[in-house]
Amino acid sequence: MSNNQKGFVLWFTGLSGAGKTTIADIVEARLKDRGSKIEVLDGDVVRTNLSKGLGFSREDRDTNIARIAFVANLLARNEVPVITAAISPYAETRDAARDLIGDEKFIEIHVATSLEECEARDTKGLYAKARSGEIKEFTGISDPYEAPTSPEITIQTEGSTPDESADQIFEYLEANGFLASELEGAVA
Ligand code: ADX
Repeated sequence: MSNNQKGFVLWFTGLSGAGKTTIADIVEARLKDRGSKIEVLDGDVVRTNLSKGLGFSREDRDTNIARIAFVANLLARNEVPVITAAISPYAETRDAARDLIGDEKFIEIHVATSLEECEARDTKGLYAKARSGEIKEFTGISDPYEAPTSPEITIQTEGSTPDESADQIFEYLEANGFLASELEGAVA
């Protein structure tokens, strides 16, 4: 096990159903396979415990994201890599997370699946409910999503598999020296 691990935060952002959790799960498993520490803060999971009771107003979303950033920072500053997978729709709030965690450790990943595709997939059936008005303030339908203007990584899920998307993230991590100490002698 490497004792020279680097902390970093893979900050996923994208619409509901874009594929954030699916890709995050693959990245988590692969990091574990390498013997890396890794902690995941998934939007849906955080909302059932740390952010239980919060809704989807701007204020509540910002509180949710600030909590995720707070925990991610505690972990990353102790060399624990973190994956966050919440919609995090507001650019200003994501930038505040970047400032807290530190630009050198903050890797913003835009899972750029289009609204049309997310709505066509509608894996949780929420887009239909948002269209009918049963769910209010739904991101992309009746609430804003501010796409990042200069994310470290942009993932196009349409036309590539989740494994290929994970490959793209590992290429970035390797190219930027985030994994070098974890190769455990696998010097090619
Ligand atoms: S965030 O805006 O605060 O970052 P978060 O990722 O935690 O959102 O939660 C989004 C998830 O909550 C969605 O994937 C969906 O399952 C569910 N959800 C329920 N109501 C809404 C809504 N009004 N807008 C967006 N997502 C909603």
